[in-house]
Amino acid sequence: MAARVAPKGYSVLQIVLHWTIAALVIFQLLVNDDVQDAFKDRSDHEPFEGEIGALLHIGVGLTIFALAILRLAIRLWRGVPEPHSTNPPLVNFAGHAAHVLLYAFLFAMPLTGAIAWFTGLELSAELHELGRLILIPFIALHALGALAEHFIFRTNSLIRMLKAEPPDA
Ligand code: HEM
Ligand code: HEM
Repeated sequence: MAARVAPKGYSVLQIVLHWTIAALVIFQLLVNDDVQDAFKDRSDHEPFEGEIGALLHIGVGLTIFALAILRLAIRLWRGVPEPHSTNPPLVNFAGHAAHVLLYAFLFAMPLTGAIAWFTGLELSAELHELGRLILIPFIALHALGALAEHFIFRTNSLIRMLKAEPPDA
């Protein structure tokens, strides 16, 4: 259930989860050559040699999935701070839309990857690849939005994702 009164800031756990997941997602976007090779070998019915890079991609990806579930549960239980009313409405709308989309990808990427890997479904591998093309610009827009809020609109959005508020704040 959503919190009745929005908290003034994020909790330590929410902040740690945000930055941990962000780092792991960027890792996944950078480290995927081995899993692509292994997936191709499997599709060609060649034996999977257990390449460490492929296992790492799968392990980190499944970890992201678990952390995303935890994060969403905390969001629903504790709530998140309100967007700043001083921002132009379009900025808040774009920020909210980006958050929804990023959450969706935190689930969609591991799911499409896992379906591709565990069932060999080519369509799922293609969706996984397509996901990357959508995810990267949205991460960039999200980061630019955070910086714009800080430097142009002068809100504390970035600060509140770095410094936690006490539980009763
Ligand atoms: C947020 C989590 C994840 C992200 C951001 C991510 C990202 C990526 C990226 C960017 C590629 C390269 C796509 C390409 O250019 O062809 C890739 C490939 C792949 N990933 Fe993931 N991945 C994630 C989770 C997972 C998980 C959990 C699994 C499996 C359990 C997985 C399995 C694969 C496979 C099999 C490929 C090769 C697909 C192909 O070559 O067509 N991924 N991933
Ligand atoms: C893979 C990278 C990233 C992902 C998946 C991601 C995802 C998210 C999500 C889903 C939220 C909404 C949190 C919630 O309300 O529950 C959020 C908030 C936020 N993110 Fe990210 N993020 C990433 C990278 C970044 C980067 C690089 C920055 C900074 C330059 C950043 C700054 C922020 C800030 C400041 C907020 C809080 C916005 C507010 O309170 O109004 N994020 N992020």
